[in-house]
Amino acid sequence: MTVSSNKLNVHALLWQDEQLHVLDQRQLPETVRYDIYTEAGDIAEAIRSMRVRGAPAIGIAAAYAVALSVKMHFQEGGQSWQDKVFADIVVLAASRPTAVNLFWALSFMQDKLASLEGNPVDEMLQHAADIHEQDIAANKKMGALGAEILADAKGLLTHCNAGALATGGYGTALGVIRSAVAIMPRDVFAGETRPWLQGARLTVWELAEDDIAATLIADSAAATLMKSGQIDWIIVGADRIAANGDVANKIGTYSLAVLAKHHSVKLMVVAPTSTIDFAMDDGSQIEIEQRDASEFLPDCYATEDSLVGAWNPVFDVTPAELISVIVTERGAVFNPVETGVSELNKDD
Ligand code: MRU
Repeated sequence: MTVSSNKLNVHALLWQDEQLHVLDQRQLPETVRYDIYTEAGDIAEAIRSMRVRGAPAIGIAAAYAVALSVKMHFQEGGQSWQDKVFADIVVLAASRPTAVNLFWALSFMQDKLASLEGNPVDEMLQHAADIHEQDIAANKKMGALGAEILADAKGLLTHCNAGALATGGYGTALGVIRSAVAIMPRDVFAGETRPWLQGARLTVWELAEDDIAATLIADSAAATLMKSGQIDWIIVGADRIAANGDVANKIGTYSLAVLAKHHSVKLMVVAPTSTIDFAMDDGSQIEIEQRDASEFLPDCYATEDSLVGAWNPVFDVTPAELISVIVTERGAVFNPVETGVSELNKDD
């Protein structure tokens, strides 16, 4: 079935009446509930607790948080309102470590704060809205470019959720899938993405909301699916891309990349240039977030004297040599192992 590529039914973040409305992704797919935020510290907590997640969406939420901080502290008055905003930026920066979009957005907003020309509140709110809007525009560009690269490939597998829920809208990996199914029917598979189940809870829900059929697989079925010949491309997003093309993304991406190599399946990484850490030489330097064992350890083992523990790194690094193409809004880099991605470090 062919569907329109312009439908945008799913919003992780909505800016309304000078408040940030955040879809609580922990409650999907059963409950669609937006919480309303007006304070930066509360938005930092929403990021930490994964009400909002996905690298670009985290960056956009943080940008709105800085703008709300300016609104609150500037309107309170006093000489030291900027110091209070900087203190909020520090809290926001400590919310999650791996997605570079968070630090990119905070540094962008901090630069704007240092060069204000007019009313601080209006200016900073406008900058946050611009980041949001530019992210959607970048996703649409990447969607078209990625779909062109896929040509008539039929079988697509994605991992985690790199969709509208993880971005300002439309999505990165799911943006490519949206654009690709608008051209011709494809068989879309989604890995469940243990332990947090972004694939099972978020990706298939988001695709269904957009009338795109998808087949969910257990992560452990990926090798057998690839061996069956049903997959031409794996399409994923990214949390941080190093200058040499190594990619940090949701835990399990590296496993899929190794399997893809063995089965001659191609791997496409889709991410805006705000996800590239041009100052980082290679992926070995990327901080990998470790989350609490309680995210998947059965309660009966969560005692102090338990012999059973759990190791819960939530991202991994896929080396550039396993990646076929990195798609950004500034263009695509094929075989990134040969050149890295530094050529994308330019203004549009
Ligand atoms: O822990 P999460 O859900 O924030 O991790 C999200 C991912 O790993 C996504 O693949 C990545 O952020 C890209 S989102 C466009």
